[in-house]
Amino acid sequence: AAVQDLAGRHVVISAGGTREPLDPVRFLGNRSSGKQGYALARTAVARGARVTLLSANAALPDPAGVDVVHVGTAVELREAVIRAATGADVVVMAAAVADFRPETYATGKIKKKDGHEPEPIFLVRNPDILAEISADRSRPGQVVVGFAAETDDVLANGRKKLARKGCDLLVVNEVGERKTFGSEENEAVLLGADGSETPVPYGPKEVLSDTIWDVVARLVSAGDTL
Ligand code: C5P
Repeated sequence: AAVQDLAGRHVVISAGGTREPLDPVRFLGNRSSGKQGYALARTAVARGARVTLLSANAALPDPAGVDVVHVGTAVELREAVIRAATGADVVVMAAAVADFRPETYATGKIKKKDGHEPEPIFLVRNPDILAEISADRSRPGQVVVGFAAETDDVLANGRKKLARKGCDLLVVNEVGERKTFGSEENEAVLLGADGSETPVPYGPKEVLSDTIWDVVARLVSAGDTL
């Protein structure tokens, strides 16, 4: 059995990708499979944590021993995160959250009209859940972890994002051909607000998950003295 270094801890994990509806049959979405978030949930359970998984549109079976809440949109995910994070020891935002949503929802299916150009789609900003959760920690010592997918200047952009979001740890993925979306494998660097830098070589999402928990478990015990 794995080390029980998350025993007695409540861990909240978001996974998957939000869908922002345009009309009853269409949405704006992204390619997140939810596999990384689900791997985090399974490995946290193995290390003794009580896990709440906030799942956005992941076509994956509910992991055993996990409290799963299914959500659709970024606004629904925000409500679920705020509710679940109250009193939680750790919040990990592994979900791909849409930055924007359609300004209006058409209650009837949008139709093409002969001889007319299509209507433009206007977007409005979604709330930044990670920044909000990081700014108002619901308990002292609560550890907040974010994810970032970058294509270039991975470390420099990662550091900037870590500071902008205000979280304790940022898992930076380099987006590539076989990596990240829908894949069973991942490669990342964990950037800590304390200046730490932990590279995780290309490998199973479970291994990346366990490395994240190694770092988080240390941060959580350091927070016990707060
Ligand atoms: O800003 P960017 O989307 O690159 O940041 C990614 C991180 O922020 C992820 O942890 C994601 O879950 C979180 N995020 C969020 N709310 C948003 C956008 C991203 O919590 N609206």
